[in-house]
Amino acid sequence: MCGIIGYIGAQKATPILINGLLRLEYRGYDSAGISTMEKNGLSVMKDKGRVKNLYDLDGINDLEGTIGIAHTRWATHGKPSKENSHPHLDNSKTFAVVHNGIIENYNDLRAFLIENGYTFYSQTDTEVIPNLIHYYYSKDAEKDEFKLLRAVQKTCKDLKGSFALQVLSKDLPDNMLVVRKDSPLVIGKGNGENYISSDIPAILSFTKDFYFLNDYEFAILSRDKIDFYDIDLNKITKKIKSIDWNASAADKNGYEDYMLKEIFEQPNAIRETIGSHLPENERCTFENLNFSKAFLQSINKIYIVACGTAMHAGLTGKIAIEQLCNIPVSVDIASEFRYRNPIIDKNTLCIYISQSGETADTIAALKLSKSKGATTLAISNVIGSSITREADYCIYTHAGPEIAVASTKAYTSQVMLLNILAIYFAEILESTPYSEIVKIKNEILSLPAKAETTLKCCNEIKNFAKNMYQEKDVFFLGRGVDYNTSLEASLKLKEISYIHSEAYAAGELKHGPIALIENGITVVSILTDELLVEKTISNIQEVITRGANTLVITNKTLPSNNIDKIVPIPDTHTSLSSILSIIPLQLLAYYISKEKGLDVDKPRNLAKSVTVE
Ligand code: AGP
Ligand code: GLU
Repeated sequence: MCGIIGYIGAQKATPILINGLLRLEYRGYDSAGISTMEKNGLSVMKDKGRVKNLYDLDGINDLEGTIGIAHTRWATHGKPSKENSHPHLDNSKTFAVVHNGIIENYNDLRAFLIENGYTFYSQTDTEVIPNLIHYYYSKDAEKDEFKLLRAVQKTCKDLKGSFALQVLSKDLPDNMLVVRKDSPLVIGKGNGENYISSDIPAILSFTKDFYFLNDYEFAILSRDKIDFYDIDLNKITKKIKSIDWNASAADKNGYEDYMLKEIFEQPNAIRETIGSHLPENERCTFENLNFSKAFLQSINKIYIVACGTAMHAGLTGKIAIEQLCNIPVSVDIASEFRYRNPIIDKNTLCIYISQSGETADTIAALKLSKSKGATTLAISNVIGSSITREADYCIYTHAGPEIAVASTKAYTSQVMLLNILAIYFAEILESTPYSEIVKIKNEILSLPAKAETTLKCCNEIKNFAKNMYQEKDVFFLGRGVDYNTSLEASLKLKEISYIHSEAYAAGELKHGPIALIENGITVVSILTDELLVEKTISNIQEVITRGANTLVITNKTLPSNNIDKIVPIPDTHTSLSSILSIIPLQLLAYYISKEKGLDVDKPRNLAKSVTVE
């Protein structure tokens, strides 16, 4: 959600900042702005609308500064407008600040500052920050180089909520200060220059070396060094992490849209995620996990907690873990879990799934379960992201940067990793016959090739989309793992085509929703679960009888009677089948969105990383 970029070095900052903001566009935003350190003080250029509009602002090409901060805003407090755009200045124009997040107690702070003579020019929660910095700065009689750091520290102690902050002070023309709490921010180390960003892909073409700040850690950046401080302003050291993502992985590589590219990257993303977890004739391994049999035997309940697509992957993880390990698993939506006082103790294992690793509700749910004594395990696609630093254990999907708002390759990689995790647990627990484990492992290893084969349905799906892009309502049906896939397929369609859709467990149809089935409505069914095929076929017949157009994704041989379109996919083990059956449905959502002329990668109202509640 929204983004920040910073540059400090020898080059002109403006083009680097705007380029960085363009790379963060996919996160979702409504306004953009930059501030640079100029000879005559701090410049501020901002407006609502697209990043590229910044180039039209008067004077932007005259900026010479080599230090700057930049922001894309996703409005939370105050409508999108020039005044509400970031950066914000304090009344004395000494400090420029960009902020991602929400200041929950901004009303109280604003009232306090107004009482102390400050004036506000925007409706944002953010504007209290530069003024509060000024308040503390002007009260500090010292004149040393740490004066700004002290003022920002005191300000942060007053703030409730979430923030990633970049601060420029005209009194420190060779520095930039950053701090974060519950909002993402990474520091990229260059040679004689340093970068700030909300995420790694945006600055991957400049550096592969990153520092990650924990909550309430401060960094003072110069051109050739970075100093870190904790909340009490003790100097701390941080380790660099090198990221092995290729810069071109964050480009479109000839595809029309990131989403299409990412759909086609799935065979490789799955392959990379399998990695070396399944050595031949040996037990499954995870570099970062060394669970003992006694520990796993002590676990009597597993929660899988996540949001959106990641939660859908969790639903299939539940099936795999319950079947292979015989431990009960509950899947929860993070925003519900965190407020419902879940029953957790030291015998609970909580698994958190997040592509970005920065989803606010997922992080908060993780903190809650840790505080109640659970063991926590994070699954993320982003090395060093908040969730991976917060959890006791962490394992990674290796899908590469996912830029399109609608998640595709992260989902299939998550389902893959959860299946491998289930095998890892089962081998330690000896809870599944060896022959069954070997069968599933072989299936896993054949999945990348089967995903390649599945992608061949692309043109068929494209043609089908031409017939259905004007629909108003679409239904997705499935049982067992196919129901989970239906939920994900329905979410994809909603997100990027704006068509209303519902996913139903096929057996629930007769308990209400069948009332909505009428002539011409499209019903998409997924049919891969061996044990449930007959039952779902009967449900499909029921909707056909009521006039529905039907599309069926299946790895079974079906009698084609009256089904409008059958898309065959390769057969595989049940808990892996979602990895293949979702592919045609990702393509369906994609091509419907294209037929409607919509912005596939940046759907309205959505943000890639939901860093606020
Ligand atoms: C997926 O298409 C969505 N845009 C969304 O549901 C997403 O999966 C969710 O916000 C969770 O994100 P995360 O995996 O980064 O935590
Ligand atoms: N809450 C702030 C605002 O509405 C920051 C929003 C953001 O993170 O972009 O301006």
